Amino acid sequence: MVKINLKTLKIRAQKEIEKTGTPEGLNEVFNKYLGTGKGELTLVLRSLGKLSKAEKVKIGREVNDLKKILRIQFDQKEKSLKEKLHKEVEEREWIDVSAPGKKPLFGHLHPLTITGRKVEEIFQGMGFSVIEGPEMESEWYNFDALNIPKDHPARDQWDTFYLRNGLLLRTHTSPNQVRYMEKNQPPLRIIVPGTCYRHEATDASHESQLFQIEGLMVDKKISAANFKATVGEFFRRFFGKDVSFRLRPDFFPFTEPSFDISISCVVCGGKGCSACKETGWMEVAGAGMVHPNVFKNSGLNPKDWQGWAFGFGLERLTMLKYKIDDIRLFRSGDLRFLQQF
Ligand code: DAH
Repeated sequence: MVKINLKTLKIRAQKEIEKTGTPEGLNEVFNKYLGTGKGELTLVLRSLGKLSKAEKVKIGREVNDLKKILRIQFDQKEKSLKEKLHKEVEEREWIDVSAPGKKPLFGHLHPLTITGRKVEEIFQGMGFSVIEGPEMESEWYNFDALNIPKDHPARDQWDTFYLRNGLLLRTHTSPNQVRYMEKNQPPLRIIVPGTCYRHEATDASHESQLFQIEGLMVDKKISAANFKATVGEFFRRFFGKDVSFRLRPDFFPFTEPSFDISISCVVCGGKGCSACKETGWMEVAGAGMVHPNVFKNSGLNPKDWQGWAFGFGLERLTMLKYKIDDIRLFRSGDLRFLQQF
């Protein structure tokens, strides 16, 4: 049999139990003495085979008694370790239930979302429907159908991202004039808000991603006077006051005649300042009377219908409304900017 002094073993085991400070350590000590494989007391029991029956009974009982005693100590130690851990966690994660609550952070709308919704609301109030179109567009709808043939210098007006799949990223929302007229008979009134893309060098007033709002009204006997009335009303509602504006001749392949729309500078009120380059005017949109070829390409007879169209840059409108001087702020993700809205 393994020669072993149970008394010293007991003292040794008790000291080690006492010393351990973690559940893992305690587990190791347990295995060392009571483990079913190589625990010291297990080995003692296993080696009793050669002894006389009387000795077996005697030593066997002593060992089992000792096991019981140690087991109790292990249990107690385990309990106290758990309590200690519990206390530490409690102290660390202490909650003051009487402390005033933290204010939850509310999200808010992006300035472009705010003005975009406002524009939609105003036009809907004047009987326009809000339509959407694809951002990946074909060359046909983005250019040809709008009277901008291949190899025509007018295409240079829009620096275009061409895609490997034969499509392109729309450079403006105008393609939706044709898309809509193909499927819907006039009279019609729509606006088409949406993101457009241009291969531009960015600066304070240019971005490669921009948000446009296209407008289109088609009916019999529509004239530029209808256009002036509609836009004037729009400006009044958007800026919340009477804003003087002017139309000047311009060129767009899909309108004839074409004009640009300027409003009197909202910063200086038309006197002339650095924001309006001392002119007193700010350009906000392109517009014109729908070109006969655009009607033809949409399957409508230009002799039967007239219409006007416009394209606003939403960033520009928003910059004017809130007096923002750099277009790059919108997509910068800068919270110091965004939290002002
Ligand atoms: N699509 C033009 C652009 O992106 C803007 C525009 C001009 C739209 C005249 C129109 C229009 O509908 O009639 O520059």
